[in-house]
Amino acid sequence: MSSFQIIVGSMLGGTEYVAEACEQQLLALGHQVELHLPPVFEQINRNNQTWLICTSTHGAGDYPDNFQQFAADLENNDQDLSSVKTLVIGTGDTSYDTFCKAAKNIEKLLLSKGCNKILPLKTIDMSQDIDPEEVAANWIEENSDHL
Ligand SMILES: Cc1cc2nc3c(=O)[nH]c(=O)nc-3n(C[C@H](O)[C@H](O)[C@H](O)COP(=O)(O)O)c2cc1C
Repeated sequence: MSSFQIIVGSMLGGTEYVAEACEQQLLALGHQVELHLPPVFEQINRNNQTWLICTSTHGAGDYPDNFQQFAADLENNDQDLSSVKTLVIGTGDTSYDTFCKAAKNIEKLLLSKGCNKILPLKTIDMSQDIDPEEVAANWIEENSDHL
């Protein structure tokens, strides 16, 4: 069993549903889960935790409004995050050149701070995938051996 901190960036609510589907799937697999929306960096447990980031992209490749402070605080953080495992789900729209750029950027930032990536970035095209919550939950289940 692992302990998960789900960290959510969402403006219109679509990614919030995706994050909640992940929460339900992780609980069903017997993990401990806390969900942060909006995420407050200092309140997120970093002691032998797995951080699951679920974020959309807005503007021209930008973080959602409710996620910008978390990203800024992470960037300014000097503490050791090497005990944090991380995985990222990005939601976006493939009609943008900057498809899921916020998710790609936060993953880079997490790795630069010493976090350990346990799965490759998962992207979900919200304009094409009929059931994004199911896509995310299935991805968690398919990779449950690595969590
Ligand atoms: C103003 C605006 C800008 C967007 N820019 C991007 C973008 O640069 N890249 C991308 O992949 N998706 C972009 N999207 C698509 C959103 O990421 C997508 O609609 C997503 O489902 C929104 O998730 P949320 O409801 O959790 O905020 C944009 C959407 C809007 C409304």
